[in-house]
Amino acid sequence: MNFILKRKEETNVSYEDIVHLIHKSFEDRLKQGLKFTCSFLTVEEYKKDTAKGTVFVALDKDTQELLGTATVNVKKDIYGVTYGYNEYVAIAPKAQRQGIASQLLKECEKIVKEAGAEYIFSDTAVEAKSSIQYHLKNGFKIIGLHSYPSTNYYSYFFRKQLVPSKKWNSNLYCKYAFLKSYIITKLTLRKDGHKTFLASLFKKKKKKESIIYGNSHS
Ligand SMILES: CC(C)(COP(=O)(O)OP(=O)(O)OC[C@H]1O[C@@H](n2cnc3c(N)ncnc32)[C@H](O)[C@@H]1OP(=O)(O)O)[C@@H](O)C(=O)NCCC(=O)NCCS
Repeated sequence: MNFILKRKEETNVSYEDIVHLIHKSFEDRLKQGLKFTCSFLTVEEYKKDTAKGTVFVALDKDTQELLGTATVNVKKDIYGVTYGYNEYVAIAPKAQRQGIASQLLKECEKIVKEAGAEYIFSDTAVEAKSSIQYHLKNGFKIIGLHSYPSTNYYSYFFRKQLVPSKKWNSNLYCKYAFLKSYIITKLTLRKDGHKTFLASLFKKKKKKESIIYGNSHS
């Protein structure tokens, strides 16, 4: 399939078209029992969430049909480091496995590099195998586990380092970060994001465990 990538504003694609595509793309996840927020996303929520970001679309070169989308937002983590948050990655079922998401990611990377980002962050359900493979194939490393109250699954946190880093380019360090996060999350959060019994025993609010993470989820 021949496709071209553009920024949303360079096209006639509407927010409604994109949200429709996202719903279609996540249909199989819903059938799998995974309640991604993307499946229930409204146009208003999407507009608000992407207002400060850059939205890319993939169009069929011949028919201009919308085949895929991805958004990137430049943010700062809790250490003041600039990073790009990659979200709303959704490819039409008939256009999957043809390199579209990987190409969209490259466009997102260019934008965030220009903005001085040191890494790209993303997350997905631990059961979403194709999404996990897509992240690993494109150079992301799994560095954490989390659970959001708005979903019904544990999520992996992914980081793709754009600027060389002794820590984050080390597989060993990423494994350590993941293991630490895994243990804390499993002890303190249930799959639905609510606190475990053990966590509820501790009244003192702990500083957010995430290294980067903010309140992100797809
Ligand atoms: C996950 C998703 C974004 C991947 O998009 P895509 O355009 O199909 O991905 P690409 O063609 O760029 O694939 C890149 C790599 O990802 C992996 N991959 C993609 N789809 C896969 C699948 N169904 N099974 C196993 N691995 C898969 C492969 O390693 C692939 O490389 P390869 O084809 O050379 O082996 C797409 O399947 C999708 O939109 N799924 C539903 C919504 C979703 O899960 N979004 C992501 C949420 S974070």
